[in-house]
Amino acid sequence: MNLISIFDLSHAEIEEIIEKAKELKKERKEGVRARNDLKGKTLAMIFEKPSTRTRVSFEVAMHELGGNVISLNWNELQLGRGERIRETAKVFSSYVDAVMIRAYRHSTIEELAKYASIPVINGLSDLEHPCQTLADLMTIMEQKKKLAGVKVAWVGDGNNVCNSLIGGAAITGMDMFVACPKGYEPAKGAVKKAKRMGCEVVIGNNAEEVAVDADVLYTDVWVSMGEEEESEKRKRDLKDYQLNEDLVRVAKEDVIVMHCMPVHTGEEITEEVMSSANSVIFEQAENRLHAQKALLLKLLKY
Ligand code: CP
Ligand code: NVA
Repeated sequence: MNLISIFDLSHAEIEEIIEKAKELKKERKEGVRARNDLKGKTLAMIFEKPSTRTRVSFEVAMHELGGNVISLNWNELQLGRGERIRETAKVFSSYVDAVMIRAYRHSTIEELAKYASIPVINGLSDLEHPCQTLADLMTIMEQKKKLAGVKVAWVGDGNNVCNSLIGGAAITGMDMFVACPKGYEPAKGAVKKAKRMGCEVVIGNNAEEVAVDADVLYTDVWVSMGEEEESEKRKRDLKDYQLNEDLVRVAKEDVIVMHCMPVHTGEEITEEVMSSANSVIFEQAENRLHAQKALLLKLLKY
């Protein structure tokens, strides 16, 4: 089993992962850090782009579950000198038990999965960030005590994190409202799949309109990794899509503010909103650890 897209998971599987993650979180808060579940198992991680949360949370997760982890940058592997992903996939499959990869192109991850005989986890691509969505769903569940019927308003670039969240919403019954400028819409494929699953996905251009009565306000950077050359244009195009106090005001009183991090305050979110009582940004980041532990157990334990 792989996790390449959030759409790979069923509702029951997502519920199972969230339940397990909550159990592991509680246990960790009570001081239990060392488990033996993944003793003798090794996770390799390949990073074609930088990472703080994904890298550290997966490393800590493997250590605390009793397994081993090897973290590799693309350029220190032969991949950086042109070795193909298909041979890399076969070689890795004979050394380690699972591989997590963060890559520029989603197709790189799909190709790795095609040739690997071990589970492959998408640690972010240009198209999706399913591990982030698992932690996000866990966070919303903790805060709102439910997922079905929750109104999520995404403001800003309809990017990889947004695409996976749309999938997460479709699978769990949340309603997804997106406000973005023309040309920054989420991936057509994700929206189509979600709608086919009966999810209400509404895409508009006005941030205040989509934020009305929202239970969750979510944003992400205006310039994702790999888009640095378009930086100035993106900042200009997205300037009216900032998660600020005006948006919080039109949302529900108990709205939660979410962001996958890293944040660029003063751009997609204001410092005030990020550090307000509504913000659950750091809980979200912490939940990456618990949700990924649950995922690793599901993929590797049996
Ligand atoms: N949210 C997230 O994936 O963060 P990193 O880029 O630091 O891994
Ligand atoms: N959309 C961002 C997410 C970073 C975790 C990016 O791809 O850079």
